[in-house]
Amino acid sequence: KAKYSNVLIKINEAAADFYHRVLASTNAGKRGLDYAQERDLSADIIDHFRIGYAPKQNNLLLTYLRGHHYQDKDLLDSGLFVQSKAGEMFDRFRDRLMFPLTNEGDYVIGFSGRRLTKDKTEAKYINSPETKLFEKSKVLFHFAEAKKAARSEGHLILYEGYLDVIAAYKAGVKSGIASMGTSLTDQQVYMLRRITNNIIINYDGDEAGIHAEERAAKMFAQTGGFNLGIVVLPEKLDPDDYVKKYGSAKYLDEVKGALTPTDFFLKRLTQKYNLDNDREKLAYLDEAIRAIAQLPNPVEQDLYLDKVAREQNVARDSLKVNLLRYRRQNN
Ligand code: GTP
Ligand code: MN
Ligand code: MN
Ligand code: MN
Ligand code: MN
Repeated sequence: KAKYSNVLIKINEAAADFYHRVLASTNAGKRGLDYAQERDLSADIIDHFRIGYAPKQNNLLLTYLRGHHYQDKDLLDSGLFVQSKAGEMFDRFRDRLMFPLTNEGDYVIGFSGRRLTKDKTEAKYINSPETKLFEKSKVLFHFAEAKKAARSEGHLILYEGYLDVIAAYKAGVKSGIASMGTSLTDQQVYMLRRITNNIIINYDGDEAGIHAEERAAKMFAQTGGFNLGIVVLPEKLDPDDYVKKYGSAKYLDEVKGALTPTDFFLKRLTQKYNLDNDREKLAYLDEAIRAIAQLPNPVEQDLYLDKVAREQNVARDSLKVNLLRYRRQNN
């Protein structure tokens, strides 16, 4: 790896080493390691993702970095510390499992720290604040490595959480990335665009995740030129939970079964209606056919028309009459 001169990178890199060492080989890190084990994170995975632990005491990182002759001004700029009204500095991250966030060159520019406890009065994740280096809207967890893997895997897979990217990695998907939470940004869409057109979205299987997939799919469609797959996991599971429950092989099957955006949309639509009721079924069919009429490719239109006809057990030709009518209205 090339040498870096930016002092904020130096500080973040040193902090990553510190947190990692605390987790992997100190008594103070035992709590973190117990939690990591609870989350099925092996020593190999901990090393690979440079996962660490921020100890409970409020100034160990500060002492360590001052010991390495970093200036308080730079330390404050790094975002790793908070300052009391009296000007005293403290470690921002305490008693958290630490995930380093890196830039495209794979240098650490910030962190996300997960609480170990179930105490919901504390935020589940805390992130580094924005710094000159760390712009959340341009950060994608695991991007530096995933973009290399994208060449062999032929796609990038977008996840909600760091632990989902890690679970996928364990299952053999090395092209996983995650934004900070579910709010995908335009900048991130452009970052992906530079690497590949083939994007698979695999957010959590809960309502929030599916809704976010819908939103993300719209963003990719607006930019255009993407070939999208959308995975919807059953039982509201997220990929990490899924791999834990059903194993890697089944998870890879789910990825292979990714839906096209149209399939995803039509499936969502069936859930909006009670299809046992004729009036609702007709409304569903109407909305579905209108959507299919919007598709730019007539072959695709035929494909989904067939599918809806088959699934709802209605005559294809009648649906086609309406499809042609809507198509004329669109032109
Ligand atoms: P685990 O519960 O540890 O498995 O994490 P998760 O990734 O499954 O969390 P969840 O599905 O609730 O949220 C998805 C992503 O949203 C996380 O990976 C974080 O990036 C982000 N997120 C969740 N909770 C918080 C929070 O309290 N604060 C912030 N800033 N981000 C959060
Ligand atoms: Mn190690
Ligand atoms: Mn979620
Ligand atoms: Mn989740
Ligand atoms: Mn999870």
